Amino acid sequence: MPTEAEIRNVLSRVIDPELRRNIVELGMVRDIQVHGDEVEIEVALTTAACPLSQNISDDVQAAVKALPGVREVKVTLSEMTAEEREATLEKAQPGLPKASQFNKVGRIVAVMSGKGGVGKSSVTALLALALARRGYKVGILDADITGPSIPKLFGLHPGEVRGDPMGFLPAIAAENIKVMSINLLVPDETTAVIWRGPLISNAIQQFWNEVLWGHLDYLLVDLPPGTSDAALTVMQSLPVNGALVVTTPQDLAAMVVRKAVDMAHQLNVPIVGVVENMSYFQCPDSGKRYEIFGPSHADEVATAANATTLARLPVDPELSRLGDQGQIAKYNGALIDELGKAFESECPLPRRDL
Ligand SMILES: Nc1ncnc2c1ncn2[C@@H]1O[C@H](COP(=O)(O)OP(=O)(O)O)[C@@H](O)[C@H]1O
Ligand SMILES: [Mg+2]
Repeated sequence: MPTEAEIRNVLSRVIDPELRRNIVELGMVRDIQVHGDEVEIEVALTTAACPLSQNISDDVQAAVKALPGVREVKVTLSEMTAEEREATLEKAQPGLPKASQFNKVGRIVAVMSGKGGVGKSSVTALLALALARRGYKVGILDADITGPSIPKLFGLHPGEVRGDPMGFLPAIAAENIKVMSINLLVPDETTAVIWRGPLISNAIQQFWNEVLWGHLDYLLVDLPPGTSDAALTVMQSLPVNGALVVTTPQDLAAMVVRKAVDMAHQLNVPIVGVVENMSYFQCPDSGKRYEIFGPSHADEVATAANATTLARLPVDPELSRLGDQGQIAKYNGALIDELGKAFESECPLPRRDL
């Protein structure tokens, strides 16, 4: 039966692949329990979003199992608190500046909706494209941790985000749009992220604090639907300048949207505009418009939000087809540039000092 000191000794040969120091020195070994020939080890990661967590876990297993008298090794992974993470990073790279010190973002706008499936992510992507085409530097922070869909729309895959000692470098999508999403960190896009609120909040804060966004004019934050923890985290811990509300005519009396609007108001985040998606279908033969999901509620929502309707986008099978193929950047619906223009005038960049 090995002693705790012996176990610690072998663990000091396990190197964190990113920080390039051993996990004992980094303070990541939180607990060691020896029960006969069974050893339980708790390792605290700097972030639950660590793409290399499996490697660390495997290395710990292998190192301890090699000790004589050990039959089974159980490794549990937990996450450090923000303060512990800070201390660990400082230990690994003393004096290294943090990503957020290099970030300069003109406007941060959260894209919200009452419920899911209204096309919030699609509208976020289209608006990003429209703004990028108007010459702005644009980023998208995918704050939908359990249902991330921005990478898929742009055809981005895990591995396109790179780790840097100072933080993550975002993936680059069409039109030079920078993208950060949990789906770019998991080993495979189909891996489900089953996290509770605090872990989700942590990941979102890291996507802001520890990602090298650099200089951006607009950073669009794709929120999960409704008034979730994630929405609260974004509006409270990121310097959000405004929120864009996406709705559809089906939203009965737009009641759920109003809750989202109410949340933004309570948190002093102004609504920069309302986009009604799937507003109508325009018959390609006759050009006639059909309000297939019922009459528009856009202006009603906009009035309640003390904002304007920026655009009413049609149901367009081409949009969902291109989105499914990761080719949303090829979408050239006529209204997209108008959406960009309307947004730009409602949410202008801060004046730069000359
Ligand atoms: N205007 C539209 N016309 C046709 N399909 C759309 C439109 N907007 C969104 N969709 C489709 O609806 C589905 C949900 O859209 P998504 O943007 O993921 O919504 P959300 O982010 O609100 O959950 C996707 O399959 C998308 O392609
Ligand atoms: Mg979405």
